[in-house]
Amino acid sequence: MAIRQIYKVGDDVLRMVSKPVTEFDDKLSELMDDMIDTLIYADGAGLAAPQVGVSKRIFVATFDGGNTIIEAVNPVIVKTKGKRVAPEGCLSIPKISEKVERPRQVVVHAFDRHGNPIELRASGFNAACFCHEIDHLDGILFTDKSVRK
Ligand code: NI
Repeated sequence: MAIRQIYKVGDDVLRMVSKPVTEFDDKLSELMDDMIDTLIYADGAGLAAPQVGVSKRIFVATFDGGNTIIEAVNPVIVKTKGKRVAPEGCLSIPKISEKVERPRQVVVHAFDRHGNPIELRASGFNAACFCHEIDHLDGILFTDKSVRK
């Protein structure tokens, strides 16, 4: 386990469309452990693999007010409900906070590190966080979507 470098806005990897994970092996587990260590060290709410320079469809995020860490491989948003506008930040864009409109509720289908299918249900802050992290996997940053009023 190790803390990895967090790539910042301007790095090309943050603008790439990440590739699906096909091998659920020890290397994937090591990467995900490192992502969790890096998320905790950086005191963030979520971290996507491109933010540590790996263009693969993986994110980790805090849940339950930080009591739980969610990990998701090849996540897909399958259902959304409502809208919510709230400030966001990003470990790859230091010191910037801007309002973004996100669904109020989301259902995400993904896999765990062992390749087992999982379903994640989130609302409010956690829903926005999941959407933010999944955007990273498509090369989208929250500042692309910010609501400037
Ligand atoms: Ni981010």
